[in-house]
Amino acid sequence: MGYRVAVVGATGAVGREILKTLEERKFPVDEIVALASPRSAGREVSFGDKVLKVQNLETFDFTGWDVGLFSPGGSVSAKYAPIAAAAGCVVIDNTSHFRMEPGVPLVVPEVNPNALKGMKRNIIANPNCSTIQMVVALKPLHDLFTLKRVVVATYQAVAGAGKAGMDELFAQTRGSFVNDPPAIEQFQKQIAFNCIPQIDRFMDDGATKEEWKMTVETRKILDPDISVIATCVRVPVFIGHSEAVVAEFEEPVDLERAREALREADGVILRDERVDGGYVTPTECVGEDATYVSRLRLDPTVPNGLAFWCVSDNLRKGAALNAVQIAETMVALDLLPKH
Ligand code: A2P
Repeated sequence: MGYRVAVVGATGAVGREILKTLEERKFPVDEIVALASPRSAGREVSFGDKVLKVQNLETFDFTGWDVGLFSPGGSVSAKYAPIAAAAGCVVIDNTSHFRMEPGVPLVVPEVNPNALKGMKRNIIANPNCSTIQMVVALKPLHDLFTLKRVVVATYQAVAGAGKAGMDELFAQTRGSFVNDPPAIEQFQKQIAFNCIPQIDRFMDDGATKEEWKMTVETRKILDPDISVIATCVRVPVFIGHSEAVVAEFEEPVDLERAREALREADGVILRDERVDGGYVTPTECVGEDATYVSRLRLDPTVPNGLAFWCVSDNLRKGAALNAVQIAETMVALDLLPKH
């Protein structure tokens, strides 16, 4: 016997990836429903070799559904996740809306699976895509040397802004070759052939909300004593986030032990050769599950410093895969009741 699974936001970039991931990983599904806005009701999406007719979230009754994988945007999750949760459906939410709320576990299964046991409101939050890949890479290093401070610059793909973001990069790139002035709608400035040092809105201290998320989420997931300063940049890459991470530790860092720990860590692939091209770039990680770590080296400017580069498919580990792994971990820990 499997589970009754609802995928909310099933027509979007992450929702489609969730359907694909559930099928690929053979999550025990008895029944599955694809939900989106009333605009999409009646459209079709595929689930393996099956075709699902999209239903309207607004009128859907979650009673009797075991788990809901949500990626419809923050304001929609804010309204419908509590409705689903109150009907007894465990919500795994991809938006930022519930992440910092007490009683809502914020989980990366390779890093803090036991946090799932603290679920109080039938809602679990999937962290921000940039946070996920960074904590997957940092966890084995934190276990060894105890992290103190992280300085990170991100190079984030447009898929993080949904299908509309990908369409805009395509249209602007194409438009610039056919002399059609690019329209700017999804991003603050032209994204084609450019880099934009703003993701999400500005906060009072001058950081953007994306940067704030990396700080507070890393603390909630990994350790409340870690300081993080992030600069988050949108780049003209369709899929796959990159990060340049500089980490400072309490204890002396041994490069060989760090390499060994990264080689053995769940969810990490260390691909680090000090030769031309001996590192992983975002186009190479598309469709892959791992967080790839490259360019590992000591940072000689601080007592116990390490620097590295990491890339991951932001639609998979950064969103859909992590959400499905949360569901799998709940099954393994016997935390997902069937109706
Ligand atoms: P729809 O296609 O009907 O607009 P993306 O992040 O790629 O833009 O995807 C967003 C997903 O969230 C889509 O599946 C979208 O459905 C869904 N969505 C957006 N607004 C709503 C809403 N008000 N109710 C339900 N689903 C929504």
